Amino acid sequence: MTMVAPKTQHVARLSYQDKTIDLPVYFGTDGPGVLDLQELHKKTGLFTFDPGFMSTASCKSEITFIDGEKGILLYRGYPIEQLAEKSDFMEVAYLLLYGDLPSKKQKDDFVLSINKHTLVHEQVISFYRGFRRDAHPMAVMVGVVGALSSFYHDSLDIQDPAQRHIAALRLIAKMPTLAAMAYKYSIGQPFVYPQNHLSYAQNMIYMMFSTPTAPYEINPIWAKALDRILILHADHEQNASTSTIRLAGSSGANPFACIAAGIAALWGPAHGGANEAVLGMLEEIGSIDRIPEFIQRAKDKNDPFRLMGFGHRVYKSYDPRATVLRQSCHEILEELGIKDNPILQLALELERVALADEYFIEKKLYPNVDFYSGIIFKAMNIPVSMFTVLFAVARTVGWISQWKEMIADPMQKIGRPRQLYVGKPYRDYIPIDKRQEEN
Ligand code: ACO
Repeated sequence: MTMVAPKTQHVARLSYQDKTIDLPVYFGTDGPGVLDLQELHKKTGLFTFDPGFMSTASCKSEITFIDGEKGILLYRGYPIEQLAEKSDFMEVAYLLLYGDLPSKKQKDDFVLSINKHTLVHEQVISFYRGFRRDAHPMAVMVGVVGALSSFYHDSLDIQDPAQRHIAALRLIAKMPTLAAMAYKYSIGQPFVYPQNHLSYAQNMIYMMFSTPTAPYEINPIWAKALDRILILHADHEQNASTSTIRLAGSSGANPFACIAAGIAALWGPAHGGANEAVLGMLEEIGSIDRIPEFIQRAKDKNDPFRLMGFGHRVYKSYDPRATVLRQSCHEILEELGIKDNPILQLALELERVALADEYFIEKKLYPNVDFYSGIIFKAMNIPVSMFTVLFAVARTVGWISQWKEMIADPMQKIGRPRQLYVGKPYRDYIPIDKRQEEN
């Protein structure tokens, strides 16, 4: 797919000291316009300063659109609510990767080509054996996904579109297998091979929970819930992990190494690690009567404690994924007949209290997608340490679509931010016998 160059529609005028320059302003299909600062340094000698990228668009993209004020999330133009209700993960994966919803034949062919790649090289198993049994599965994933680049040499030439595509299919297909292996290794059970007649979500559940000793029946409520969670997590424009992948990929690194970098960025509790942190927080709170104490702590500026699963950098009215998942969450707890599980009850009460609290209302801190996915995973008996791994499985299709888009973009350059240097000014080297210790 060729990317269309942005059109200049307006100009912003910037004056600094004796210079006045015109900067082009571009508008995309939707969302705020952007000020093109590429010539700023050349023309004024200045850099921009925007830690946390609060006002910076790092690229142009055709994949995902978010309007944080209105709570809108579109994949290739389609609203997330409709995709979550009517589609399935394989169809959404196709949509993100190719740009349009597939015909029946295109979807069947896509599923077949994914299924061709679900197995991992048998020697990958030796990587798992090198990890401690109590290793966090995200640590294992960072290692083994990066290690895939040492196995699939025929899909490492990033200049070849066919190889890029094979690498994308391999990553999407192998992530559930690798994720389930990380779990099985942690509990000392044999690895379970994928079954290609199962759906993507069913396979994930099957490889995690079945054993060779007994037939295993996949709970359809779990499979539906997981498929929906996979759809909702599949992409989210230029978040921390996706930006990490674009930055790593901009240097020409291979796709397996780039996705490993994205997994590392996702792991943090301010990003994908929040779903695990939600459960950690609920366990720390312990009982409903302690909720007020923790709400107080979350409001206290001198206390680092935050309500995990609340707030979002972009969504300031509500997170549309959370709205979908909130409903699923309540339905699933009902269907599974586990509404009275103490941790889940605590979660629902925390949600109720926080949503009615002035501090959270005023700061627009709503439960985000991680809050509800954490609760649903808990209801499905998925071990807490696997929560973020499942997020990574879902996000792989978004990551690799964004990576492919970047590599194919003729405007692509190595990402190389600048800085505001505030360290020591120039000084001459002092021989060791002449140095004085600083306090
Ligand atoms: N609990 C209590 N207060 C909070 C929370 C929270 N979860 N989140 C933000 N605030 C407060 C901050 O203290 C700050 O208050 P102030 O204006 O008085 O200083 C204000 O709200 C704004 O917070 P920032 O940290 O500046 O907002 P930012 O956009 O940088 O952070 C983030 C967003 C990281 C998601 C934050 O809300 C947070 O830490 N949430 C908890 C972790 C979490 O759930 N992360 C998952 C994000 S979704 C995802 O990755 C899929």
